[in-house]
Amino acid sequence: MIYVTRKSHFNAAHRLHNPEKPDDWNRKIYGKCNYPNWHGHNYEIEVVVAGEPDAKTGYVIDLGKLQSIIDEIIIEPCDHKNLNTDVDFLEGIIPTTENLVRTFYDRLKEPVEQSAASGSSLFLVRLYETERNFAEYCPYPRI
Ligand code: NI
Repeated sequence: MIYVTRKSHFNAAHRLHNPEKPDDWNRKIYGKCNYPNWHGHNYEIEVVVAGEPDAKTGYVIDLGKLQSIIDEIIIEPCDHKNLNTDVDFLEGIIPTTENLVRTFYDRLKEPVEQSAASGSSLFLVRLYETERNFAEYCPYPRI
């Protein structure tokens, strides 16, 4: 099995706030990330595709094609946007790194697997909110 990764970048604003909870609960749980007037992050997203290379091309997935899928599905809707208010597929989701990475995985799965070599799978999506904080979503046993 070969694991192929493409890394991409976007900037976005967000606020962590659970509208079902009182303001003091939100301030206590989310701290600075609950600041009412938003704050921004330089997000990095890594998309990992697992499979066997196609016999004719030698590719698990064409990385240019993978980048265009990531651009269309994640970067264009999210870059320089407010993740709480501007992105339809994030409506009603508290935009923690955990919730974002699972939502991104679910959106990428079908188009990525359709463009990859036969039998390949979208193995993992990793989302960095800062250099030190990241979350991964992977529905498979880990290597
Ligand atoms: Ni934040």
